[in-house]
Parts: sequence; structure tokens; C-alpha cells
Amino acid sequence: MQTIWPTAAGVRPGDRTPRSGDGRDWFFQKRFGLFLHWGLYALNGWHEQDQFRRRIPRPEYTALAARFNPRRFDPDAWLDQAAAAGMEYVCFTTKHIDGFCLWNTAQTDYNVMHTPYGRDVLALLAAACHRRGVPLCLYYSVADMHYKHYPNAGRSYERPGPEAGDEPDAARYLEFVRAQVRELCTQYGPIHGFWWDANMLGHQDPTFNDWIRSLQPAAMINDRGFGPGDFGTPEREYVGSVREVLAFERPTEHCQSIGTQSWGYRADEDYYACRYLRQSLDNALAKGGNYLLNIGPRADGTLPPEARRILRRLGSWYQRVRESYADAEPATHLSANRAVLLTRKGDCLYVHLNREPASAVVDLKPLTVQPIEATLLNTGAAVDARVEVTPDHWQEPPYLRLRHLPVNDLADQVLVIRLRFSAPLS
Ligand code: GLC
Repeated sequence: MQTIWPTAAGVRPGDRTPRSGDGRDWFFQKRFGLFLHWGLYALNGWHEQDQFRRRIPRPEYTALAARFNPRRFDPDAWLDQAAAAGMEYVCFTTKHIDGFCLWNTAQTDYNVMHTPYGRDVLALLAAACHRRGVPLCLYYSVADMHYKHYPNAGRSYERPGPEAGDEPDAARYLEFVRAQVRELCTQYGPIHGFWWDANMLGHQDPTFNDWIRSLQPAAMINDRGFGPGDFGTPEREYVGSVREVLAFERPTEHCQSIGTQSWGYRADEDYYACRYLRQSLDNALAKGGNYLLNIGPRADGTLPPEARRILRRLGSWYQRVRESYADAEPATHLSANRAVLLTRKGDCLYVHLNREPASAVVDLKPLTVQPIEATLLNTGAAVDARVEVTPDHWQEPPYLRLRHLPVNDLADQVLVIRLRFSAPLS
């Protein structure tokens, strides 16, 4: 078989991240998910950590429960909007740092059943996901600004210390956590992921994740809980390596919110530009990761109109280019051009113009093979692909170049070009 993929010295081959070989591997098929931060904080429309960041006294914050009544909550509408964007799984905040529970938990009355709404939001969402075959993952905050046994000690996401009625006791709090996790993993059908957050206790006990998996074998568990978990969770651009690496080495889910300020609903949100989100999504998927894009639903149960608009715009681009990620391997190491990302599948190589292109040509040095077909996935148009010598590298061999790309007409897109070669990968 003809070898058409030159391997530059010193670069890692474009491996895939390791698979589990069991039910958890759904994660590598469905790679673009919807994160949902929803809770009492939606009523104030400021930030999901409202209580913590604005130092709202506990009685004042807790009183929001008497106003929680999302009459327009319709999980099918959420899932329709997610599907239009090309999203294939959901991760839902069952309990954020405020301690308010969005399910019918027997462990505390601070839950959705004790609100004017009085219905089990998680059960409704889970039923809709199961009907449609959409994997459902559950977010759960270890930090808890409400439950009496949580040992508040003034760390991030905590109250400064115990208050009237509190009985701080880490061991009893962890029993509470276990009882809640048991409910979440036994009362809502198949759960496809457990998304720990805010383990301010620094508690470590990897057997906890093993126990979750014994209850829910398809659950992919993240790395923010009591053990290393199954996948990493770089957030926004806080970890620069998300942009710098050529490919992720362990299973990774890059999480990002649709707005710069908050994960929960924020009335005055500063939404990201669609071009930025396309680049961010492309960056994660082309490197072999997943992408979890967050929206904070409003207190009435609907997604904010601007968020819906962004999902539609993202979807109209993503649906056209998604074949470049599905079952493809990261392959950026095949070219020295660091302005582009590469993925490959069978006899196809996909070129992603992830960074803003400086000109209408992409140079794929050191590739020297002429593709038999070159197509711009964004439009379906043929692309002029040539192996040629140019004045700027006149003493070197001819290299593959993609020419006359519509970088001005499609300036807010991430362009993705499919190159088909005569031979499959050797
Ligand atoms: C950030 C936010 C937190 C949110 C999380 C999701 O850490 O501070 O509130 O739940 O992102 O990854």
C-alpha cells in the first residue's frame, strides 16, 4: 500500500485518546454536548454563584425557592434547540454550590418539590432524554452553601464559617453526598456521566467513582471529584494548553459558556461572537476532545433568545463540517503549518482553518501528494489544490497548497477542507 503520510521527525503520531472498551465509549461518538446551569440563581439573573460572590445572606437567598416556578419549562424544547445546533448529549446541574436540588431528593427539603413549581425537573428532563436516546450527564457540586453538615470554612464557594443551625461535620456531609448520589444514580434511568465540581474539601476516595460506575456502567466521570476520573475538564481558556497542544492525550471535554460572564442565566450577559465559538469548538474536536457548551436557562424555563440564536448559527456551520470530526483522528502533526488543524479518516485529510487566515492560500508543507478531490465543506465547492513550487520556497521541493479560499466572503466561518487521496492510510 502506498504510504502517503510523511512523518516529520519528533512528532507524536496522531493517536486517538485511549478508549474504555465498555459502555462509556458513547463519549467518543457523541462529542458536542449542551451544559445547562439552572437553579434558583436564574431568578436574580446575575451569576450562578450569586449567593457566594455577592455575599447574599442565607435567609435572603433561600427565600428564592418560594418564587421558583418555571411554568414554561419544556425539556423537549431544550433538546430540540440543542439538536438543531448538532449537540448530542446533555449535562445538567442537579445541585450547584448554593445547595439547591433540582430533583426530588429525600435528603433535604431544599429542593424543587418545595417550590411553587413542585415538580421533579430532573425526572422530566431525564424522561425526555431517554425518549430521544440523548445521553444525560449529571453535574453535582460538592461545595454546598446550604446543608447544615457542610463544613463551611471561608474557602471559595463557601460561607465564611458555620452559621446558626449548622452542625459542620465532614463525615456526615459525605454520607449525605453518598445518599444523594445514590438517588441520582438509581432513580432516573440510565445516566451517562457524572460531573463533579467544587470539591473544596479536597476529599479523595477513588472507590467512590467505582461505586458510581457499579450503579451506572455507562457513566463517564470527570476529574473534579474524589478521584482522577475518566476525562479532563479544561474550562474556558484558563488552561492555555487547550490551544497549544496538537492533540489531547487523555479523554478531554473542553467546557465553555456561551457568554463571557456567567454559566447561570445572566440578564446582562456578554455573549461570545459566533466566530469565537466556532474556533473554540473546532479546536476541541479537531484535537480529539469533546466540547460542552453551556447555556443558563431563564427562571421561566426557556433558553434566552440570544442563546437560541447562537445555537442556530453555530448549528448551520457545524452540521456542514461535522464529518471532519466524526470518527476522525487528530493529525495536525502532519503539517508544519501551525495556523491550521488537521484531522484524518480513511483516505481523507481535513484541513481546519482554525486561526484567522492571513491570506487565501494554505500551505501544507511538508505534504507533497496531490489529492484526487478537494472540497470546501462549508459550501460544497471544489477547492484548487496543487503541489507546486512558489517563489518563497524556490529551493525546496514542491508542496501541497490550497488556493483561492473564500477567506473574505466567509470571514466569520472556520473553513474546513476535505482532501481525498488515492490511497487509504497505510
Ligand atoms: C466555573 C464556575 C462554576 C461553574 C463551572 C463549570 O468554575 O465558576 O460556577 O459551575 O465553571 O465548569
